[in-house]
Amino acid sequence: MRKYIVGNWKMNGTSNDLQEISAIAALATQYPAVDIAICLPATLIARAASLVPGFAIGGQDCHQQASGAHTGCISAPMLVDAGARLTIIGHSERRADQYETDANICAKAMAAHDAGLRAIVCVGETLTQRDAGKAIEIVLGQLESSLPDEADGDWLSVAYEPVWAIGTGRIPDESDVAEMHFAIRKHIISRFGSDGEAIRILYGGSMNGENASILLAIPNVDGGLIGGASLGAVKFEPIIDAAA
Ligand code: 13P
Repeated sequence: MRKYIVGNWKMNGTSNDLQEISAIAALATQYPAVDIAICLPATLIARAASLVPGFAIGGQDCHQQASGAHTGCISAPMLVDAGARLTIIGHSERRADQYETDANICAKAMAAHDAGLRAIVCVGETLTQRDAGKAIEIVLGQLESSLPDEADGDWLSVAYEPVWAIGTGRIPDESDVAEMHFAIRKHIISRFGSDGEAIRILYGGSMNGENASILLAIPNVDGGLIGGASLGAVKFEPIIDAAA
């Protein structure tokens, strides 16, 4: 399976950062064996997409409906119109800050697919849940309710992002990542049959140039969803290189 390395810029980036997007897109051309994308704040998508037309630019969320009276929201067809090819759905920061539920996330994933976007659906446990020995149960429950009934690897990826590893510099033990990704693989194969074998499972949470080669070598880790270390080409390159 080709590795998928996706940057999530979160609420970072203005016009001044367009040159960094160009640098990342230029870098990507040196790694033809890796699928690379950057998910940007909505305000930058159209400019980035026209600046680097050969490179995959994505959004970080979409509304479940195509249009309507939803002030401040952005729909999947709007992302496509702006030049996006993919979007993140159900990031833990949105689950927490915007109170997104598994049902919302499922509807958003289907909306993204209907509009022709690839979707990365995020799941992950909190530290309290892990300490209580409930990490796998929580993540499988999130998958059960946030993945649509039909999916395949051409458009869907899953990102396992332990909430306590995001932006903290902490990562789980290799054996915990392996156990979780195996459990996710089993779940998606049981749901989607052989299509579940081709759905990429990304790891996210403090992935950086130092730990990427270890994390990306774990079975069923098919790529990474990277926050802080994707904000610049220099920090992002070693992760792409590890994937290659
Ligand atoms: P960090 O790589 O900054 O920990 O963020 C991970 C993340 O949330 C990506 O979606």
